[in-house]
Amino acid sequence: MQQQTLEDYCFETTQAEPELLLELIDKTQSDMGYPNKLSGRTIGRTLKLLTGLCKPSLALEIGMFTGYSALSIAEALPENGRLICCETNPKAIKFAQSFFDRSPVGHKIKPVFGPALDTIATIDETLDFVFIDADKRNYLNYYEAVVPLVKVGGLIVVDNSLWQGRILEPNEASDKAVAQMNQRILTDDRVENVHLNIRDGLNIITKIKDY
Ligand SMILES: C[S@@+](CC[C@H](N)C(=O)[O-])C[C@H]1O[C@@H](n2cnc3c(N)ncnc32)[C@H](O)[C@@H]1O
Repeated sequence: MQQQTLEDYCFETTQAEPELLLELIDKTQSDMGYPNKLSGRTIGRTLKLLTGLCKPSLALEIGMFTGYSALSIAEALPENGRLICCETNPKAIKFAQSFFDRSPVGHKIKPVFGPALDTIATIDETLDFVFIDADKRNYLNYYEAVVPLVKVGGLIVVDNSLWQGRILEPNEASDKAVAQMNQRILTDDRVENVHLNIRDGLNIITKIKDY
C-alpha cells in the first residue's frame, strides 16, 4: 500500500475541522501566497486533541500564518486559557485576526508581531504548551529558548520535523537546524519525546525535569 494512500485514508477518517476553518483554508488559498504553509486537518486535529489533554493556561505558537493551527489549539483551551502567537508577516496577522474575530474561541488568541525569539524573550510566565512551526533555520534556537519556560509536565510539539526528508542528508542551513534539533531532543535529559512520521513529521516532547 502506498504511503500517500494511507495518508489520504487517515485524513478521511479524521473528524473534520469546523466550517470556519474550512473557509479559512479556501481564503488562504485565494488571498495569500504559499497556502501549503498551513498545517491542515491531521496536524490541526492532533493539536486540538493534545491541547485538550494538556489543558494549558498559557500556550505559545511560533509561526501563526493565517491562524489555522492557532484556532485549532484555541478550540480546546480552557475558558481562561490564552495562546500567544508569534508572527512576522503583518498581512498574515490581519488575515488571521479577521477569522479570530468571527470565532467563539478567537478571544483566547493574542497575535504578537515580531521575530519569535524577541517575543519569547519577553515572556515571564510559565508555558504549558508550545507549538513550533516557523522558520526552520531557527528550530534549534526555538527549542532551546522555550524548554526553560515550559513547566515540568508541559508539552512542546514541533511540526515539519522530517523537513521533507532533508534531515537525512542535511545540506542547507534549515536542513541542519532541524536535524540538530531532533538530535538535541534525543539526548536532552530534561525531556522525553516521540518522533512521529505524520505528514512532514511531528516531534512531540514532554518536559520531565528542569535541569
Ligand atoms: C508554516 S507557517 C505557520 C503555519 C501555521 N502554524 C498553521 O499551521 O496554520 C510559518 C509562519 O512563520 C512565520 N515566521 C517566519 N519567521 C518567523 C520568525 N522569525 N518569527 C515569527 N514568525 C515567523 C511566517 O511568516 C509564516 O507565516
